[in-house]
Amino acid sequence: MSERWYKEAVVYCVEVDSFQDSNGDGCGDLRGLTSRLDYLSRLGVTCVWLNPIHPSPQRDNGYDVSDYYGIDPRLGTLGDFVELATQARQRGIRLLLDLVVNHTSDQHPWFQSARNDPGSPYRDWYVWSSEEPPDRRQGIVFPGEQTETWTFDNKAGQWYFHRFYDFQPDLNWSTRAVREEVKKIMGFWLQLGASGFRIDAAPFVLEQVTPGVDPGPLDFSILDDWRQDVQWRTADAVVLCEANVSPEELPKYCAAAPGGPNDRAHMLFAFGINARLWLALARGDAEPLVESLAALPKLAAMAQWATFLRNHDELDLSRLTDEQRNDVMREFAPKQDMRIYNRGIRRRLAPMLKGERRRIELAYALQFAMPGTPVLRYGEEIGMGEDLRLPGRESIRTPMQWDGSRSAGFSSASPAEFVRPILSRGAFAARLVNIGSERRDNGSLLRWFEQLIRVVRECPEIGVGEPTVLDLPLPRSVLVHRFDAPEGTILLLHNLADVAVTVDLRSVAGSEPPSEVFADADYGPLATKLTELDLHGWGYRWIRLRRGNRG
Ligand code: GLC
Repeated sequence: MSERWYKEAVVYCVEVDSFQDSNGDGCGDLRGLTSRLDYLSRLGVTCVWLNPIHPSPQRDNGYDVSDYYGIDPRLGTLGDFVELATQARQRGIRLLLDLVVNHTSDQHPWFQSARNDPGSPYRDWYVWSSEEPPDRRQGIVFPGEQTETWTFDNKAGQWYFHRFYDFQPDLNWSTRAVREEVKKIMGFWLQLGASGFRIDAAPFVLEQVTPGVDPGPLDFSILDDWRQDVQWRTADAVVLCEANVSPEELPKYCAAAPGGPNDRAHMLFAFGINARLWLALARGDAEPLVESLAALPKLAAMAQWATFLRNHDELDLSRLTDEQRNDVMREFAPKQDMRIYNRGIRRRLAPMLKGERRRIELAYALQFAMPGTPVLRYGEEIGMGEDLRLPGRESIRTPMQWDGSRSAGFSSASPAEFVRPILSRGAFAARLVNIGSERRDNGSLLRWFEQLIRVVRECPEIGVGEPTVLDLPLPRSVLVHRFDAPEGTILLLHNLADVAVTVDLRSVAGSEPPSEVFADADYGPLATKLTELDLHGWGYRWIRLRRGNRG
């Protein structure tokens, strides 16, 4: 059976301005990205998610859009976008765009018109209050950097609502014209070759805001509407929601009725698995993952999780208890400047794991072994580090390290003119960590990632199958789970501690002789029947028990 593409995809997230400069102005651009598609194709990714590419004052890395129908001139033109989409499709790579429509930039002409003229047709595209809202200091998303959610605008003579920064006024989703406009925006980019959207801050889009009521009730009809419209325009386009909400709430983002047809988002980021995976790594204990998999909400049949370890934001640990969060912070962000918003970590994975190769492999093997479609952030495949001298979440947006030169192969401009500095100090400097040298080295992390991605693409049961955690007498550090699907059955063993163990698998019967498809080391040939298996410290073994129907 041929599965839906998003269930078997490997997604790669790119910050276009940091990836590859093509015109020597020191800023990455769409043509630069197009010129690197062969690299992505060789890596094996099948879908590229572009962080915002629209014109923007860039006060929140493009998550403050001032024109939804354009391309940020630093990044290129609409023609460059279409060329990227065409070239990508020729290589079997699809594009997802960030759709940031909870809010616009305060520089967007809609907001400028709305604030300047009470009679403006755009006035009710935003959320206003004539009185000072009693809850205006509540519901802040960026503690330490944001002080309120309602700000008085002198020109409008009213308070406007902004869930995020004050330069990001929220759109008023109860206004019909806003809904219609956003459908047009989606249609526009689908026509130009996008395969779908990552819906930024989805719960806040759905929220119905009233002064004094925080949080407001959610209006899921917006998602119903999008799904219908997107699918009508382009049959195989997808909607991927960013919704870091409670497990009880999540299924509603995919289906209108529990257990019903998948008539809302196709995909949801697996925030729950993310935080628990980090806790498991910090403690060297599989239990948080066992619990997380057991409690994984059931989504509609065609809906899919999108798994990740690090993304473009801070590593958000807000859904852990204080004790759990402290354990993760102590292990992976011991210094204050590594932390942000009292809840997160602004580092990349490799330095968090102290560059320990076996542990980095274990972490990513585990992510790719979790139910869903894996999402990988640019640079993680070579073990890039962060630059903590940069403010906030800029630390994880340094230019891609293509080679070991002073410019890291990113741009022909003088490094002083680069959009952000090349990481040039410490163990993760471009001189030491770069694609050029990793390509030449058969044992490099990059080569390992190429293999991981290829293996995952050969194991559709991980993307589409039913996960089960095996209840075996095991050391706490070991997770053994399996996926069953018409396409096959795979058994996955991961050891979260740096202590070798032996796992007794005699009770696990397979109908066919098992075969090892991926492992941290050569463990020798497998017996026809599974017996006791060794697992190195931080080791992993993926064993196929049945090769099903792949016709
Ligand atoms: C989402 C994005 C984040 C951005 C925020 C406001 O949470 O992931 O980067 O700052 O929305 O748009």
